[in-house]
Order: sequence, then structure tokens, then C-alpha cells
Amino acid sequence: MCGIVAYLGEKCAQPILIEGLKRLEYRGYDSAGVALLDGGAIRIKKTSGRINALEAILDEPRTEDTLGLGHTRWATHGEPNEINAHPHPDYTGKIAIVHNGIIENYGTLKTWLQNEGVKFLSDTDTEVIANLIGYFYATGDGSEESKQCDGQTKFEWAVQRALRELHGTYGLGILCADFPNILIGAKKGSPLILGVGDGEYILASDAAAIVEHTTQAVYLADNEMVTISPGGFHTKTIDNVPITKELSEIEFSLEQIELGGFEHHMLKEIFEQPKALTTCMGGRIDAQNGRIKLGGIDSYLRELTRTKHLILTACGTAWHAGLVGEFLFEQLARIPTETEYASEFRYRNPIIEDGTVVVCISQSGETADTLAAVEQAKERGATVLGIVNVVGSSIARATDAGVYLHAGPEIGVASTKAFTAQVAVLTMLAVELGRRRHISSNEATGHIKELAQIPDKISRILEQSDHIKQIAAANAGQENWLFLGRGFNYPVALEGALKLKEISYIHAEGLPAAEMKHGPIALIVDAMPTVFIATAGPQYNKIMGNIAEVRARGGKTIIIATEGDENIKQHADHLITVPDAPEILQPMLTVLPLQLLAYHAAMLRGHDVDKPRNLAKSVTVE
Ligand code: M6R
Repeated sequence: MCGIVAYLGEKCAQPILIEGLKRLEYRGYDSAGVALLDGGAIRIKKTSGRINALEAILDEPRTEDTLGLGHTRWATHGEPNEINAHPHPDYTGKIAIVHNGIIENYGTLKTWLQNEGVKFLSDTDTEVIANLIGYFYATGDGSEESKQCDGQTKFEWAVQRALRELHGTYGLGILCADFPNILIGAKKGSPLILGVGDGEYILASDAAAIVEHTTQAVYLADNEMVTISPGGFHTKTIDNVPITKELSEIEFSLEQIELGGFEHHMLKEIFEQPKALTTCMGGRIDAQNGRIKLGGIDSYLRELTRTKHLILTACGTAWHAGLVGEFLFEQLARIPTETEYASEFRYRNPIIEDGTVVVCISQSGETADTLAAVEQAKERGATVLGIVNVVGSSIARATDAGVYLHAGPEIGVASTKAFTAQVAVLTMLAVELGRRRHISSNEATGHIKELAQIPDKISRILEQSDHIKQIAAANAGQENWLFLGRGFNYPVALEGALKLKEISYIHAEGLPAAEMKHGPIALIVDAMPTVFIATAGPQYNKIMGNIAEVRARGGKTIIIATEGDENIKQHADHLITVPDAPEILQPMLTVLPLQLLAYHAAMLRGHDVDKPRNLAKSVTVE
């Protein structure tokens, strides 16, 4: 949650900060602010609302302001008002910071500082960091070390001294009015990247705010800080141990994060799925020879093939993809598999025996609960693999090995192309493990050939977007929807309900279809829409029974069926078709109409699809 961006260079900082904040706005959008350092004073402008609200209160940019901080917030501590917005100054006015993360011991530290006479203005945990740095900078801590340091060294020392007191997570950008040419960044648990340009530096929560300026970047690790000046930068730990960091290439382009003619990132990303899956599977599937190669986990394949217990863990949409994975690993590879919510897994006492493999799935690679699940699994001795989209993200780095989605940047808060790419990676892995453990080479080859056709089949579904919009229009006024599916399409029903909820604010529940009669059937009233995924497969006749049960009670049916299914027409108030595919591959197709249905319903209800209320793209707090 929250996006931070900071600039130090030769250009006017303010427009660069604002542009960067716009690119990070998907990380949080309830308040925003900037701090600029000029002539020995820090000027802060902040407001509740979005970046355009901030722009409205800014002064004209001044070319001499070449150092500054920016922040877009997703509130954790304190309501999203102007006072709680970042940047936060310290009580002396010398320090200003922007923060992404949560400080768990902020209450204790606040009380201690208040007892020392420090006055607080906001309700945030962040102000504690600002005041702690300011306090140590102003008064030292009585130690010989603090007495001996001076000037810039004292600023760095005060930052390190304060950070060592913090429990929790932070990505920080820090300014001190005494040093108009110094910017400090520090990281623990929240992402922070330093873009290194030609005579300029951009410190940001993610690469989206950097690529316009440079593709060269340094990824900070936990407990590391960077001090940046016009002459260069140096990195060290918060315990003052110098470290050398390699420059990495940012792997995506500006074009990939722009709207490119689409009205919303979500719609663009829905339509990008044929390409995203082609890239995701490119070089990995060899349909000719019936082979799959997942380079990132090559050296773990033997262990995976022998495992007796696989745990998949993730949150939200990624968890739904994991559930599809569970069914795939059971069916194709006969591996006992469980899919766990990372938020539950991290606090349980999971059984991790010798040979247990844990696979963490995350688009952003920054989700706090999933990251904590990685740590928990590692502590208990499991091999931990990642299925992650964002290259170089915390989860990608914390896992033993992994497979990148290569789906391209996903900006829309509602996850779409990441889901299909996650399922594609899980399918490839399940087919490969299946071939090594349970199914014949012929069967594996058949699956791989079918897999290769998925991107084209997705393109055919996308052609129905206008038809799906009409279905959305006929039902968008209904406040309760059900999504029902069986077998491999049960996780898709969960995903369809989540999509509708998060962007259209319609209450929706996803269920295995047969569960409806154990309670939720009581909800069915006249005209209430129930979305059925009733594609060809072993459970087709069963789901037809569930459709009849809904219609008998006056409910409306929106049915996702296989192309050419004439029989189903008479049972559908609204029909959407998908190309035929084996049941195990259907989730990558049947989810498409549900993504479009949610998108169009949200648009018809007048919502901001890319920035739904109360949400943010990456949940980097618990
Ligand atoms: O970045 P991650 O895949 O770890 O994110 C997990 C969830 O927060 C995410 O899928 C969330 O549920 C989406 N907003 C759903 O569209």
C-alpha cells in the first residue's frame, strides 16, 4: 500500500514527482503530498483525495527545486485527511519523510517521544519515524558515537539509530533541511527501488515511476539504506556496514504501463491476455515434442517430482489460481496438495515434513501475508518456490527459486491477466510433474497441444465484449449475485464473484454449485442473477440440475457454456459461449466472460474501475 517517489537530479523535481505519483496511484489513492527542499527549508503540500486534487493546490514548479519527495496514500493509521497525508515533517521542521509500511511499535515509541517533550500533529505511525529521526538528529543518544558524528554523517547516523528502534515494515524517502543535496532511502519489508539515471536518481516503490527516466536500477534489500547525492550513491545496512549493489535492468517499457487507447488499465489487461499467455508460455512449452521447460525451477524438479506434500499459498485472486493448481496437481500428478490462504498459513502450525514443497503465488511479489508465509515455510525447513509476476520483487527474492509469469505489468487493481498467467504456469508445472509421475507421455503431449491453443481461444471470447456489456446492463441493478461452478470451474466461480464485488460493489458469492442447496438457495428471489459456468465436462448434467433449481425459484440465469451447446439455450436468460477445451484447461477461458461482466457492470454503475474504493493494488500491510 502507498506509493513513494523521490527525486534528486538537475531537473525541476515537482513535475517528476507528480508524474511518478500518477504512475504509482494504483498503490493507494486516498491522499497525496509532496515535499520540496529549497534554500534550507522544507516546503510540504498535501491534501486528501487523489493526485489531481494535489495538483490543484501546488504552486508553480520552480526550476531550482531539484530534490523532493512524493507520496500517494492508502490509509492504515488515521483517516485519510490532510494532516495524516504524507510527507510528514518532524517536530523540529528539519526532517521530512514519506513511508510505505506499518510500524507495529509506534504506540510505545510515541509515548516515549511525548515524554521527551515531542509534540505530534497526526494520528499516523509514520510521524513517529519522522520524530524519532528528528530527535536523534537534534539531541543524539548520549553515546560516544553520536557525539563524534557531525554534518551528513550525523544525518545518516540519526536515520540508522531511529530505524533500529522500529518493529514493522518500511520503505522510506527522507530529507533533511540542512542537506539540500542529500536524499536517503531505506527499506524493510516494503519495496524500494533506486533508479539510476544520467545525473539523476529516482527512488520509488516500484519501477513504474522510474522507467520513464531510466531502466537502470538498484533493488534495495531489507535493512538496507542508500544515501544519494549529486555525485553518486552509497549503500549500507542500517547497522552501518557498507554493501555493494549491482545495477539491474528494469524489464518493462513505458508503453506497457500506459493505457494505449483503452479507457482503463483493467480493460487493457483483459484484452492483453492472449499476448500475456503467449509470452508466459513462450519458450516453455514444446508442443511438438510434448515437453515443458520451466528454467527457473529446473534444479528443483527432481524434488518436486518426489514430493509427497505440496502446499500452495496466496491471497485473493492468486489464491483462486492456487485452487485451480491444487486440482491440477491432484489430477495430473497425483500429488497431495492443499491451497492455503497465506494470512492463515502464517499463523497456523502447518505440518511441514521432510520433502514438503511450498509454492507461493503472487502477482506483485509484495503481498505482506504471502511474504510472511514464505518466511514461515522457510523457517520450518520447506523448499519454497515462487510464482510471481514482478521481477525482483520481495517474494521473488525470498523464495529458493521460482517461475516468473512474464505477463507484463498489471496496473488495474482488479487482477485479470495475472490470474490466467498464474493458472498457465501451474498447468505447465502440473503437466510436467504429471508426465514424470502419473500420466503417459501421449497424454502430456495432448495437454500441451491444447495449452498452445488457449491464447487464440481467449481472443475469440474477447470478441463478445459488447454482448457481455448488454448482459451486464440488464443485471447491473441487482444487488446480490451468485456465481456457481463445479470441478475446475469452482475456483473460477469464486474469482467471478470477487471481480464483481471489488469493482462494481455488488454483493456476490461464489460457490461450488452443489453447495447452493445447503443454504445459499434461500437467497434466490425473483430476477436475482446467478452466473453458472456450465461448460462441457464430467459434471455438465449435475450443473444442469442446479440451473433448474434456480429457475424454479424465479432467479435469472447467466450461463457460460461451450460453443455449439444448443440444449443449454432454453435454460439461459443470458448465454455467453467459450470455445471447447478439456476441463482442466477451462479456467483460462471461463474466467474471461466473468472479468468482462464485472468490468461492464462497474462501468454501468459509474465506478472508477482501476481505483475501486478502499482498495489498493498491493496489500503490503497485514
Ligand atoms: O499481488 P498478489 O497477487 O499477491 O495480490 C493478491 C491479492 O491482493 C489480489 O489478487 C487481490 O485479491 C486483487 N485485487 C483481486 O483482483
